[in-house]
Amino acid sequence: MSGKGAAAGYGFVARFFHWLIFLLLAAQYAVGSIMPHIGRKTLDEGWVAWHLSLGAAILAVIVARLLWRLLHPVAPHEALAPWELGLSRITHIALYGLVLVMTMLGWAAANYRGWEVKLFGLVTLPALAAKGTPWAHTAGGIHNVLVYVLLGFIVLHVAGALYHHFVKHDRVLQRMLAG
Ligand code: HEM
Ligand code: HEM
Repeated sequence: MSGKGAAAGYGFVARFFHWLIFLLLAAQYAVGSIMPHIGRKTLDEGWVAWHLSLGAAILAVIVARLLWRLLHPVAPHEALAPWELGLSRITHIALYGLVLVMTMLGWAAANYRGWEVKLFGLVTLPALAAKGTPWAHTAGGIHNVLVYVLLGFIVLHVAGALYHHFVKHDRVLQRMLAG
């Protein structure tokens, strides 16, 4: 993730994407918890429609963010111990990966119900599975479990940021706030 030519810190775009995903995920967790439990008679309106729209936006932003990140390498903070470097790498890859996988599974789970997923209310995304496809039902079940796995990694990630700021007193958190 780093290497020759890597920047010393996060630029404006990387920081903007990071906090935008944070806000979108916070909203998505709230909506996912408020919306009715999805069953055969549930309609894609109200909070459910919000969940699908927000989810499609999260997918678009995380893909753009990942592409930006791959094109703009950033060196890790220079004062990290080897175990900190290893754990933060694993956590960051898990966060990117889980968000990406969760949106794809949610998309398939919506198609299972016969619901369309629209990006920014304009572009209808192609169906990943036809209505009633068994694997897309399983995708919904996995989506509901990964809700907690992703939350676990977010807690670990935030704990790491607070540990650096309040215990180690280094610039790790500052890098993501002010560059
Ligand atoms: C990372 C982004 C996402 C998060 C954090 C998230 C979170 C959640 C939560 C908290 C639930 C409720 C789980 C439960 O009732 O046990 C849920 C269910 C669901 N989500 Fe998402 N979601 C995300 C992305 C998406 C996307 C992109 C779509 C579709 C476009 C989607 C479609 C659904 C559907 C259809 C369900 C019901 C699944 C079922 O029970 O069959 N989600 N999601
Ligand atoms: C209060 C909440 C959060 C805080 C304080 C926080 C803090 C930070 C900090 C300080 C870094 C830089 C780490 C470094 O320099 O090595 C970072 C990177 C990162 N954060 Fe967060 N974060 C938060 C929420 C989230 C959430 C919800 C996600 C979910 C996707 C996330 C995903 C990431 C990823 C993937 C990176 C790695 C960036 C890269 O190098 O490409 N963060 N975060």
